[in-house]
Amino acid sequence: MNEDFIEAMPVITNNDGSGILFHSYDKVYPYTTEVISGYMPNCTGATILTVAGSGDHFLNAVLMGAKRVDSFDINKLALLYQKLKRAAVLALSKDEFYDFMTRDARKYFPKVAQYLDSNSIEFWSEYLKYFVYGTGIQGTPMFYPRSHGSDYLKMNNYMQQGNYDLLRDRLGRATLDDEFHMDIDKLYIGNKYDKIFLSNIINYKPLKDDFAETIGRLIDYNLNTGGEIYYGYFYHNHQDDIDFYLDCFPSTEIIPVDSTTFKGEKDHVLVYKKRSH
Ligand SMILES: C[S@@+](CC[C@H](N)C(=O)[O-])C[C@H]1O[C@@H](n2cnc3c(N)ncnc32)[C@H](O)[C@@H]1O
Repeated sequence: MNEDFIEAMPVITNNDGSGILFHSYDKVYPYTTEVISGYMPNCTGATILTVAGSGDHFLNAVLMGAKRVDSFDINKLALLYQKLKRAAVLALSKDEFYDFMTRDARKYFPKVAQYLDSNSIEFWSEYLKYFVYGTGIQGTPMFYPRSHGSDYLKMNNYMQQGNYDLLRDRLGRATLDDEFHMDIDKLYIGNKYDKIFLSNIINYKPLKDDFAETIGRLIDYNLNTGGEIYYGYFYHNHQDDIDFYLDCFPSTEIIPVDSTTFKGEKDHVLVYKKRSH
């Protein structure tokens, strides 16, 4: 049996409704929880490092023109899911993709598998055996939460009119490059990037546990001069901690983003641009 699948079994079969604890093999977010369309910049020709998460940061970065995207995640299942989602976009039309995600994953898997490596084919083939027949890919407890609102469509540029086909075209040419199954605190890599997207990992880290040091290290060693690190997505109700980071990185820009859950209230993204001295 596939080794990743053996590790994933407790997650796939655990139906206790628990959330995500950020273990090495853990539940996966099927869709982004951020309004990525509200802050992701033009990435034309850029090299990118992003957390994998739901795979939506990767897909949106490619749509926005990235030429290379490396990913990291503490959760191996998020990396496997990102590959699956990439393959699904390459293989399926927009309507089929939506069906695959939400209604009938088994039906479309043979087409999707044509764009997967052998380990992923083994893993997802095993996974599909644990499925309630006729459910979308998030049909087991491995995904959390297992439903989404129509907001998902507007949170992602690639699900908007015309953009899905553009994404397919760009995915065919861009590559999903290096993948790092690692805690960001242990992510010591030599590559340099034009843009780094850290999603909201910051919200899950106690502020005083050196996360500012981790961000500082990424800025010093992994960000090109002129590059930007989107180091914190704060939901409208999680804004108390922003001041801490503004003290650490005073030239931070704060991008307000329309929250999808509480209309009128804003989410915020913290962005630091590396200037030449
Ligand atoms: C922070 S979560 C939340 C969902 C996110 N807002 C989105 O839109 O996808 C995104 C991903 O970060 C990963 N993650 C959390 N803490 C991490 C850490 N310390 N190092 C690496 N990845 C981490 C999780 O495994 C998850 O896949």
